[in-house]
Amino acid sequence: MELPKGKVCVTGASGYLASWLVKKLLLLGYNVIGTVRDPGNYKKVGHLLELESAKERLQLVKADLLEEGSFDQAFDGCHGVFHVASPIVVADLDLKTEILDPAVNGTLNVLRCCKRNPSIKRVVLTSSTAAVRARDDFDPSIPLDESSWSSVQLCQKLKVWYALSKTLAERAAWKFAEENGIDLVTVLPSFIIGPSLPRDLSATASNVLALLKGDSPISLRDGRMGYVHIDDVACCHVLVYEDAKAKGRYLCSSTILENYELTSFLKERYPNLTISSFGKHPRPYYELNTFKLENLGFTFRSIEEMFDDCVESLKEQGYL
Ligand SMILES: NC(=O)c1ccc[n+]([C@@H]2O[C@H](COP(=O)([O-])OP(=O)(O)OC[C@H]3O[C@@H](n4cnc5c(N)ncnc54)[C@H](OP(=O)(O)O)[C@@H]3O)[C@@H](O)[C@H]2O)c1
Repeated sequence: MELPKGKVCVTGASGYLASWLVKKLLLLGYNVIGTVRDPGNYKKVGHLLELESAKERLQLVKADLLEEGSFDQAFDGCHGVFHVASPIVVADLDLKTEILDPAVNGTLNVLRCCKRNPSIKRVVLTSSTAAVRARDDFDPSIPLDESSWSSVQLCQKLKVWYALSKTLAERAAWKFAEENGIDLVTVLPSFIIGPSLPRDLSATASNVLALLKGDSPISLRDGRMGYVHIDDVACCHVLVYEDAKAKGRYLCSSTILENYELTSFLKERYPNLTISSFGKHPRPYYELNTFKLENLGFTFRSIEEMFDDCVESLKEQGYL
């Protein structure tokens, strides 16, 4: 038996992905500090307190990305930090104050707190394939890999603010880490599908639910998209944290589909659900090269498993 595995912090612990990562880390024997904006809000944190081993090895600490030094207390004595928190863009958010500041300045705030805390040996940052694929200058016959960066100008021109926030945040993180000797590794998931732990559905899970109930949510209308199982994304975070060989950026994406391929797949697999049809969108073709992660021994789950687990969880929670 390998327990315990040391102390790590997960930022934005109550979110969709972070909750699953906290669950995974607890199961693996870590002592976990989870930062949340309001530890007293049981509706938001109750699912974390109910996780296996949470009583013994999970502590929730208040921290806000927009408050300088806010993470100092949470990071005290931690060996690793998983910086997952970042705003997911929903309609009507103010670009600077609600998206770019928490994403970019929030990430720098987190890294400055890491720098002040010498016990932290590695920081894993959750970026996104949105920081890789918003480009109009690549050869579509060559899959995009970790050397690719989204174009800030194109993101601004297309008003794709989430992609802009993830690109600027990851670029700022790399610059700060290199200048300050921080061992940083970044994980770049595509659209995350799977079971959801929070009581209220996140923006991503709500969009998937809408799709499964016959709507065509904006974030899934967008032509070609990569999909990845939430458990794979959590496992990838743990792998690149634990494996000393891990270095740089890691694309984390299993299956890429055009949106009309996704809806045909869903209609066939779940004939009892009402799935809308999407029209074809003139979006550029791209593939993602995930060899770098696979070379660390990683294997991805299938699109069938992602959606089966997602549908089952939505049914269990009474949403479907
Ligand atoms: N979902 C996807 O398909 C996907 C794909 C690729 C990458 N990612 C990345 O994965 C990460 C998690 O995404 P998610 O889908 O799990 O989103 P989520 O459920 O909305 O979680 C985001 C978390 O960030 C926290 N947060 C936002 N603003 C904050 C602030 N000012 N201070 C402190 N915390 C703040 C939120 O806290 P509150 O609960 O207090 O609001 C929430 O816990 C993000 O970095 C996202 O960019 C997601």
